[in-house]
Amino acid sequence: MKDMRREVLYDRSQIAARVKELAREISDDYQGRDLIVIGVLKGAFIFMADLIRALSIPCRVDFIKVASYGAGTESSGRIKMTKDIETELTGRDVLIVEDIVDSGLTLSWLVDYLKKKNPCSLKVCAFLDKSSRRKVPFTADYTGFTMDDGFVVGYGLDYNEQARYLPEVYIVKQ
Ligand code: IMP
Repeated sequence: MKDMRREVLYDRSQIAARVKELAREISDDYQGRDLIVIGVLKGAFIFMADLIRALSIPCRVDFIKVASYGAGTESSGRIKMTKDIETELTGRDVLIVEDIVDSGLTLSWLVDYLKKKNPCSLKVCAFLDKSSRRKVPFTADYTGFTMDDGFVVGYGLDYNEQARYLPEVYIVKQ
């Protein structure tokens, strides 16, 4: 970690302001509904914690864990679920909360997988969107920030399990 050169991309106040806006939008859209928020481990855990605490509507939470990255910065393209949800989704309004949409492979897989559980609605909120890197078409319903190429860490995001704890988002410098 000491030799990972990095630069702040989004600081605490930028993140907090955007999370508040997203939470307002989501709260408006799900007014009067029974929302289940599913966080994608591990990367989304900090974003999800901030997001649900900023909602003005009640929600339930669950988590799913998938792996698509090995030890590098490129998606392997193979998605493996390592922890399933424990909540019944039939007839429920479900919001997936993910850290990043990069190739789009993970979220496409997750949406297909969770659709089979027959929710009444299924939407996606992603903290970051790297839209230029898609391998499959995918658009999140709610997006925190859009960025170009580059690898980011902090605010739950890691590089080889390092740097998740940082409260800001950093871009890793080569
Ligand atoms: P996908 O390529 O859209 O399937 O993205 C899969 C996962 O790769 C994301 O959920 C992130 O956990 C991880 N990922 C993609 N880009 C980055 C990054 O810049 N930093 C940290 N993790 C990333």
